[in-house]
This record gives sequence, structure tokens and C-alpha cells, in this order.
Amino acid sequence: MSDEPGIESQRVHIFDTTLRDGEQVPGAQLNLTEKLEVAHHLARLKVDVIEAGFPVSSPGDFEAVSRIASEVQGPAICGLARAVEGDITAAADAVRHAEKPYLHTFIGTSDINVESQLRKSRDDVLKIAVGAVELARSLIDVVEFSPMDATRTDPGYLCEVVAAVIEAGATIVNIPDTVGYAVPEEFGALIRRLFEDVPNIAQARISVHCHDDLGMATINSITAVHNGARQIECTVNGVGERAGNTSLEECVMAIKTRANYFGDIYTAVETTEIVPISKRVSRLMNMVVPPNKAIVGSNAFAHSSGVHQDGFLKNPETFEIMDPEDVGISESTLVLTARSGRNALRHRMDELGFTLTDEQLDQAYDRFLKVADKKKEVTEADLEAIVKDEITTVPRVYEFDFLQVLSGSNLVPTATLGLRRDEEVLQAADSGDGPVDALYRAMERITGVKVTVTSYTIHAVTGGKDALGEVTVRVSHDNRDYVGVGASMDIIEASAKAMLDAVNKVIHFTQSV
Ligand code: KIV
Ligand code: ZN
Repeated sequence: MSDEPGIESQRVHIFDTTLRDGEQVPGAQLNLTEKLEVAHHLARLKVDVIEAGFPVSSPGDFEAVSRIASEVQGPAICGLARAVEGDITAAADAVRHAEKPYLHTFIGTSDINVESQLRKSRDDVLKIAVGAVELARSLIDVVEFSPMDATRTDPGYLCEVVAAVIEAGATIVNIPDTVGYAVPEEFGALIRRLFEDVPNIAQARISVHCHDDLGMATINSITAVHNGARQIECTVNGVGERAGNTSLEECVMAIKTRANYFGDIYTAVETTEIVPISKRVSRLMNMVVPPNKAIVGSNAFAHSSGVHQDGFLKNPETFEIMDPEDVGISESTLVLTARSGRNALRHRMDELGFTLTDEQLDQAYDRFLKVADKKKEVTEADLEAIVKDEITTVPRVYEFDFLQVLSGSNLVPTATLGLRRDEEVLQAADSGDGPVDALYRAMERITGVKVTVTSYTIHAVTGGKDALGEVTVRVSHDNRDYVGVGASMDIIEASAKAMLDAVNKVIHFTQSV
């Protein structure tokens, strides 16, 4: 099968932008270690391109893109750049050590972008786009150009821009539905029109980049493939700006599962890594995957109605169109109890997408034994909560030590909190509007870190009165959002651990001690 640009190639390239468009979501920011972890996992998933960041946007982003470029083999490593000289040279610099360097430059082409945001004419924008591609091509061989907001761009002008950037050397042209505005037939027709009206179109691969504002990102991307696009830009779990980006797992599994419909069209993705990477990204970005999410939701392969269960037991294909093992869900029957050893725990953690160091495994195992002592069976959900709580890629300046809370209908709620810092236990007490408020005030007294709580959620990890409670707290500090997660059978302790997790992140990112 041909792998060359143009409609005749049947391979659909998967361009993953979890670390760029996905990571822009407030509260989902990753540190360098976490970005590297996701990038290595994306390489195991065998995506074709990893968009690793926007190098000019911050020194941290530049470093992350260059480290990923130097360390991650397999996929092309892409840096994003506006159609601006400084952005392009920074992106080229960041990806230059990659095995396969890739540069993506963009400028808005819809009238609303051209006139209101850029305050230029269509002609000016066309010239800037051409200049950007020429500069990028003088530095990097593989260059993608995106006319941002393409679906609200005048189609005739879009064809002109696409022809001009291909002429200037763009090897990939991406058609973004930046605001999630397109509907499938219209988007398919736009891609078809490009193939009909742009004379040099066969010299480039056509890519699509859809947002999910109207819930149509997947169907729009798939329709574009039907009309000749051979690259889909997407993210794990569909994370991304606003309602998110096209979901990687949905496109890849649609193409694989409906091979009878798609014919020779295929992707090179190693689908058994889909669920493990989904869990890992959800954990690292603190973005919960809804249970009914296609492919990766916890109910995606669960059958509850009597008729379905009956049919499924007689023949799984009656109600299952995909084999769960194809997406990395093993039929493991390993039940973890207080008698399970470290190896069983490590094995189960690996299956859940957590790669633990020996030290992290020890921490998780101690915590697991405490939970297993109280519960007959430790479920997958309990394990995820334990790991989220125990394992952090941010060094902990403060560790939780103890907590005493006094609260009742006619009492002023008070909390006394002990945190360990190095070998010392620091204590403080305070009162508040409720026990959690009192506790958070006591924590502020010890750490000196003042944050504003923007959301606080609690959920029981599993059913029953012995369930672990998991608290997620989002806080803001100096205009930046941080998320902390904590789990315990005691919900006030879980609240303390969640806030402490967020505070340690604030300290780490602002070096405020
Ligand atoms: O949504 C968008 O248009 C983008 C561009 C940078 C491609 O993310
Ligand atoms: Zn986007």
C-alpha cells in the first residue's frame, strides 16, 4: 500500500495533539516528567505524529518539546508555531534533534480572524502564510500548515491559500474546524472541493483537526477521510479546548471495527494500548472519563440488561462489536485481597496503565494492605484511587501526618492538622464555616500557601459503606489552576490530602518555599 501523500494512499495518519491542544485545558497542565511519560506511551500506541507543545509559549514548553524530541523514538515530533518568525525558529530549534522532526505553523483565514483578530487583508494573510511555510521549510523538511477556522473561511479563498502553501513547500495541509462548527456532509464536501479545485493538492497530505463543540468531531473527521483526508488530528479521551478535540480512540476503532465499510483504509495504531493510555491521561490530567464514553468508558463493555447478558453469554458477538482485548481490556480474573503480594499488585497496576518505580510500588502496596484489611476485595477503582493518591510526579514538600476535627450541630467546627516537612511535624489549628473549611485554614497557616478553591467534588470510588472516598479539589493561585486528588475511607482526611496535593503542586510550580 502506498504511504505517499495524496488521496491514493490508504493509510490514515494519526496526529496526536493531547500534549498541545489537550494540555491547554485549565487544570490539565502536565509537568515535564508527566509529558515525557505520555509521549513514551503515545510512541507505544504507535501514533504517527506527537504534537508535543507550543515551544515559543514558555521556556517549560520549549524544554518539554526538545526533551520529547531527543528521547522519544518512532513517531514524528511536532512543535507548533504561529506564522511568525520567532515562533517558527523556536519550534524548529525544539524539534531539531528528533528522529523525525515536524513543524506545524498556522494563521487564521476566516474573515472574522483576518479582519477582527489579525486586522489584515486576505492578501496579507496569504503572503504571511507563504512566508511562514518557506521559512519553516528552510529549517525542517516536514512542514504542516493550518488555515485556522477553515470551516468558516470563504471556500474559494481557502483553495487559494492551500494551493499557495503547497507551492511554498507545505508537505501537509491541515483543515481545522477550530470552533466545532461544521456538519459532516458540508465538511466532507469542503474536503472534496479541495481535491477538485487545488491543482497541486496531490503533493501534500490533507489532514483534519476537528473540535467537538456540537459533538460532531469524530463524524466530521471520518467523513473527511471518506473524501480524501489521510490524517486525523486527535487527542486521547477527546480532551482539548472547550468541548474537546476529536477522540483518538473513536476514530481508530471506527476504522478498525468497520473495515467492511472502510475498505483498505487503515491506521497503524497499536489498539491494545488504547485503554491503558486513556487511564493514564485521565489520571495525569485529572479529567474523569464518563462511564458511557465510547471505547474507553468503564461501561463501554458492560452489559446490564437481562436480554443482553443472555445473548452475550451465548455468543459475545451478539451484543459486542469489538473484542475488549483489542483495546487493551484483559479478561483478567485476578482478584486482589489482603493476601495478594507485591507482584500481583504490580501486574494489575501495569494492566491499569500505571508504571510504578520500586519505591512507588512500596508506597502503593502499604496503602493497598490498609484498604484490603478493611475491605474483602480491592477493586480496580480502589486501586486507581490509591495510586492517584499515593503516586505523584511532583515532589512533596509537605506530607500528611495527622488530623483531628471537631464538628457538630451546635459547635464551631475546628480542625487541628499535622504536616511533615523533612523530619519535622508542623501543627496548626483553626476554625471555619465547616470542618473542611477549618482544615483548609489550618493548612494555610502551616504552608503559607494561599489558594482560592474553585471547585470541590467528592465521590465514592466503589459502592458500600466501606467505599474509598475520592476528593478532587481545583484551586487557583496567581491566575493558574491546580488540581489535587486525595482518597481515604474518611472523607475529611481525603479532603486534606486533596488540598495538600494541590498545595504541593503550587509550591513545585512556583518554587514558593
Ligand atoms: O483548533 C485549531 O484550529 C488549532 C490550530 C492550531 C490547528 O488548534
Ligand atoms: Zn485545535
